[in-house]
Amino acid sequence: MFALRQVTSTTKRAFSSSAVSQAAKVAVLGAAGGIGQPLSLLLKHNDSISHLSLYDIVNTPGVAADLSHINTKSKVTGYVPANDGLKHAVTGADVIVIPAGVPRKPGMTRDDLFNVWLLIATNAGIVRDLATAAAQYAPKAHLAVISNPVNSTVPIVSEVLKKHNVYDPRRVFGVTTLDIVRASRFASELKDTDPKNVNVTVVGGHSGVTIVPLLSQCPLSFSDEELKALTHRIQFGGDEVVKAKAGTGSATLSMAFAAARFTDSLLRAIVKGEKGVIEPTFVKSDLYASDGVEFFASNVELGPDGVKQIFPVGKLSDYEQELINAALPELKKNIEKGIKFANEN
Ligand code: NAI
Repeated sequence: MFALRQVTSTTKRAFSSSAVSQAAKVAVLGAAGGIGQPLSLLLKHNDSISHLSLYDIVNTPGVAADLSHINTKSKVTGYVPANDGLKHAVTGADVIVIPAGVPRKPGMTRDDLFNVWLLIATNAGIVRDLATAAAQYAPKAHLAVISNPVNSTVPIVSEVLKKHNVYDPRRVFGVTTLDIVRASRFASELKDTDPKNVNVTVVGGHSGVTIVPLLSQCPLSFSDEELKALTHRIQFGGDEVVKAKAGTGSATLSMAFAAARFTDSLLRAIVKGEKGVIEPTFVKSDLYASDGVEFFASNVELGPDGVKQIFPVGKLSDYEQELINAALPELKKNIEKGIKFANEN
């Protein structure tokens, strides 16, 4: 569906003559939560945003009033479900970021299937309802989905938009930026370098073995033992935070940082008309469609209409090919689960 090209250079910054000059309305759904609040704070500093619209089932008026005193130009409004709050929050939004949902608790892994199932069903229902509102009141918005499990919630959002005949696969993104942020940080930590100079491509999906870091493509070199340990740490880095927070939630601050970076990249492409903006993200993709995997995260060039081109994964080591082989069946299952949920509920 999209043109494919090997990544040959780092992000080039150039400005298109057709750059849209006005700033955007960005809605954050789940804005009063652990991720939502620091994310909204970071977005209040983004000069591509003219209107920051915050929605949550609780507490959003307070968060909005607080943020609205920060002396940047954007207007901040807060909504709860009363008085058609969701409708007003999303109407006219150019970008809708969705961190609404329930986070993981310690031990919530495959061993704890019942609670995991409850969490998935809760988040799936929340995301379905928010996507329905987006389809009705902001059919042209770019949707950035943070709510887990991303491998299933992105297909759910896509199915909901299809049902409303407003689906454009170029405008639906699973936010996997935290995996890239962690990979860069963990690799640099190991080699005592500045993460600013270490980009690690991470492809696949956004949970456990579906997260595939391509460390052979990064500028650092690692022994086989280091590679295995680092890969495992990147795949399961979220567990470190869940464990350390001891029952009070999962990554929120690093996630807010990552989501603010992704939103900024999107705005640079769609509002400022900047060219060559590349972010890894989980999107509808042809890369592994022949294996039955319809959505896949890889480096994506963003343009005025969202996804401009999807880059292939590039040259893989044997170890990375094994990781991809392990990721694909799991991804396929997660995607099918999302599609089934959307069609049955
Ligand atoms: P949280 O519980 O602190 O905040 C979630 C917020 O969503 C709460 O304020 C809650 O009131 C709100 N909410 C619940 N139902 C809603 C609805 N129907 N409409 C609007 N808002 C609603 O949780 P946290 O830590 O902020 O995590 C949110 C989601 O992000 C979870 O699903 C978590 O697993 C996911 N996450 C995703 C990551 C990623 O890399 N994509 C990383 C970390 C977390």
